[in-house]
Amino acid sequence: MLPLRQFACSWWSCLLNSRAPCVKTLVHGDQRRLFNTSNSRMTIMPAWVIDRYGSNDVLRFTKNAGFPIINYPNEVVVQVHAAGLNPIDVSMRGGYGAATMAMKRDPLNINQSGSEFPLILGRDMSGVIMECGLDVAPAYFKEGDEVWAAIPPWKQGSLAEFVVLSANEVSKKPKCLSHIEAAAVPYVAATAWSALVNTGGLNKDNCAKKRILILGGSGGVGTFSIQMLKAWGAHVTVTCSQNAERLVRGLGVDHVVDYTAGPVEVPLRALEKFDLVLDNVGGDTESWALGLLKPWCGAKYVTLVTPFLRNTDRLGIADGMLQTGVTVASKALKHLSKGVHYRWGMFAPNGLALDDISEMVDAGKIRAVVEEEFTFSQVPQAMLKVEKGHARGKTVVKISSGEDSAE
Ligand SMILES: NC(=O)c1ccc[n+]([C@@H]2O[C@H](COP(=O)([O-])OP(=O)(O)OC[C@H]3O[C@@H](n4cnc5c(N)ncnc54)[C@H](OP(=O)(O)O)[C@@H]3O)[C@@H](O)[C@H]2O)c1
Repeated sequence: MLPLRQFACSWWSCLLNSRAPCVKTLVHGDQRRLFNTSNSRMTIMPAWVIDRYGSNDVLRFTKNAGFPIINYPNEVVVQVHAAGLNPIDVSMRGGYGAATMAMKRDPLNINQSGSEFPLILGRDMSGVIMECGLDVAPAYFKEGDEVWAAIPPWKQGSLAEFVVLSANEVSKKPKCLSHIEAAAVPYVAATAWSALVNTGGLNKDNCAKKRILILGGSGGVGTFSIQMLKAWGAHVTVTCSQNAERLVRGLGVDHVVDYTAGPVEVPLRALEKFDLVLDNVGGDTESWALGLLKPWCGAKYVTLVTPFLRNTDRLGIADGMLQTGVTVASKALKHLSKGVHYRWGMFAPNGLALDDISEMVDAGKIRAVVEEEFTFSQVPQAMLKVEKGHARGKTVVKISSGEDSAE
């Protein structure tokens, strides 16, 4: 007779619980052989992957991507219902930030180069928790909870049926949003929160009399930032192209400057000075934008367009970080002598911030701006759409396991 433990884990339990691995025991004479009979649903999943960096043709659909597993007790497995795309996905597809991401994934540099492949892109996610690690208290998350998250760029992304994340990175999805709408928010929200709150020092209690300028107000980060700052009572001015004016006015902007009508710094210089400038554009903006700040009042210029990842890609981790440190320190000192603060903003995963943002969304203070929805089989088209730029909201992909994509 079979031992009870082996009996309990027989074909029947395999059929009843398709998520638990099980071992089938074959008895042949006196010998017992153990075969892993995990069914394919538990070990593989559909996903869009890349096997090398390059242009859009590196995207490959597979039904055999590795199923993500819980490695740490604070992690959760989430079934992805919708994935949002951002400019960072297009950049990462081309290899941007590869050196820094490799260091984050493999700090001791044990793996061979290229071990990140097959790599799954997609930083925004809305879905349902399927499994919780042992340290995840049911008071925070349990199976079946609808959650959203911004996935750090060094982790496998959301263009897949499942993803594993730390419970610190996920948050309960706003009840009033569909998964498609929810997937438009987390990455830009976490970036804006990091730039405006953590770096810029703004919060809901100190914005009332502040004048904020957003350079590039009509994109993902800009449209989210406008709504959060208006909900906190700030006076918000943005730059964008003329045909985006309606969108940003609809989000509550106080003043709009069209950057396509001529040198944008000229009309901006005519305005009252600002307490904070959020720069989503980069390029030559640094040469004039700090002059728009109120001097000697603690005013800050925060730019999201920094050379940090490009430096580490070009020079390697050590030299790239050194170069980055020297650049940011010298610029900060130069501008401090003129009475204004120069800072770099960076995306940071932040489940707690998403909790606050979720409340603001459910209270009707922030809405999701979805520009276009794509199916799972249309990921390459969605990626091209983001690559073309001039977004009027977010590009979101509905993730459906039933959908057949050509492999
Ligand atoms: N450091 C980080 O961790 C981090 C994280 C996220 C994003 N970012 C960066 O932040 C920037 C914004 O991201 P996003 O997701 O908001 O991008 P996005 O959705 O593509 O939006 C960019 C917007 O910039 C506007 N624009 C382009 N040139 C402009 C100019 N000269 N003046 C004013 N507006 C201009 C475009 O608006 P119009 O159509 O009106 O021209 C477009 O809607 C990107 O450069 C991104 O790489 C950095």
